[in-house]
Amino acid sequence: MPAIPAPTARATPLLVGGLRLATNLVLAPLAGYTDLAFRLCCRLQGGVGLAVTEVISAAALNRRVDRVHRFLLTSAEDRPLSVQIDGGQIAELVEAARRIEDAGHAVVDINMGCPVDKLTKKGGGSAWTTTPCQAAAAVAAIRAAVSIPVTAKIRLGWDDESITAPELARALAEAGVAAITVHGRTRAQGFSGRVRLDGIRSVVEAAPGVPVIGNGDVRSPEDAVRMLEVTGCAGVAIGRAALSDPWIFRDTWHVLRFGTRPPAPSFAERLAWVRRHFRQLCELMGPRGAVVRFRKAGCYYAGALGLDKEYRRRVSAAADVRAVETILDDVERGLHWRGEGRPEPAPIRVPQGPVDRW
Ligand SMILES: Cc1cc2nc3c(=O)[nH]c(=O)nc-3n(C[C@H](O)[C@H](O)[C@H](O)COP(=O)(O)O)c2cc1C
Repeated sequence: MPAIPAPTARATPLLVGGLRLATNLVLAPLAGYTDLAFRLCCRLQGGVGLAVTEVISAAALNRRVDRVHRFLLTSAEDRPLSVQIDGGQIAELVEAARRIEDAGHAVVDINMGCPVDKLTKKGGGSAWTTTPCQAAAAVAAIRAAVSIPVTAKIRLGWDDESITAPELARALAEAGVAAITVHGRTRAQGFSGRVRLDGIRSVVEAAPGVPVIGNGDVRSPEDAVRMLEVTGCAGVAIGRAALSDPWIFRDTWHVLRFGTRPPAPSFAERLAWVRRHFRQLCELMGPRGAVVRFRKAGCYYAGALGLDKEYRRRVSAAADVRAVETILDDVERGLHWRGEGRPEPAPIRVPQGPVDRW
C-alpha cells in the first residue's frame, strides 16, 4: 500500500473563535443558491467545514419579515452554520445578531463586501470598507452583545484608489473579529478581472492573529492550494464552483491532506446528487418554488453531469415536478450526455456592467 504523506499545514482545520471546524473549507454565501437544500447536498459529500446562509437583511430579520425566515431554515445535518447579515446601522446589526444567537446558530457573519447598490447606499455591504473605524465599532458592539463568534466578509476596498482591506482587517482584529473572509476584488471590480492574491496576502499580513479565509475564483483543488500557498490564508471559501461541482470541498480536503484527488464521482453518483437536490428543494420550497429554483440550478448541473445544451433548454423551461423528473429519467437513460470526464465549469450568471447600476 502506498504511504500516505503526513497532513500538511495547509490541511489544518479552522478555529473560528471557540468553534473548531472539521476542515478549513467554507461554502461561501451565494444569494439565490446556498439555501438549506443546497447546503445539505454539499455537506453530504464531505469537506465542508462551515457553510454560510444567503445574505439576510438585518432590518428585515428584526421586523420578522416572513420572506427572510426561509433563509434561516436549518437542520441538525446543516451544522455548523454561519448566518450572514447585512445592514448599515450598528443597532440593527446588534439586534439581528442577538436573534441569530437566540435561534441557536453557530456564527454570525457581517456582510462588509457586497457591491450591490441597494446595500451600499444604506451604508451596508462594501460601504463598510470605506469606514474601517465604524466597521470595527460595529463588530465590537455585536461582540459585546453575543457570545457566538462574529466574523466579517470583506472586499479589497471600494476601488483601486481606495484599497482599505489591510486597514479594515487591522481594525476588525482589534475589535475581536473571529475570522475574516476576503474576496480578492474591489467593489468597483464587481466580478470582473482576476482575483488578486497579493491583496488577500496583505490582509493576512495585516491581521496576524485572525484566521483569514481567502475567496475568489477557486474552481479546483489546485486553485485552493495556490490560494493557501500564495496568500498564507488559513482557509478557503468557495462559491460559484460548488454550483457545478459540489464535490470540490471533498476533493480539495483530500488533496490538502494526501496530495491526491479521490476517485471522481461516477455519472450515477452525480445524477443521484442532482435528484437528491431536487427532492430537498421540493421539501423546502414546495413543488412550485422547487421547479422555479431548479430551472436555474439544474442548468449548472449540466457541468457536473457533462450534459448538452438541449438538456439546459429543457430544464430552464420545465413546467412542473413531473417535467423535471422526466428530464432526469431521460438523462439516466443516456439522453443529453456529452461524455465522461471531470465536470466542466458552467457559466454562472453574475451581474455585468458598471457596478453602480446593479
Ligand atoms: C449569485 C451570487 C450571489 C452572491 N451572494 C452573496 C451573499 O449573499 N453574500 C456574500 O457575502 N457574498 C455573496 N456573493 C459573493 C460570493 O460569496 C463570493 O465572494 C464570490 O462569488 C467570489 O467567490 P467565488 O469565485 O468562489 O464564487 C455572491 C456571488 C454570486 C455570484
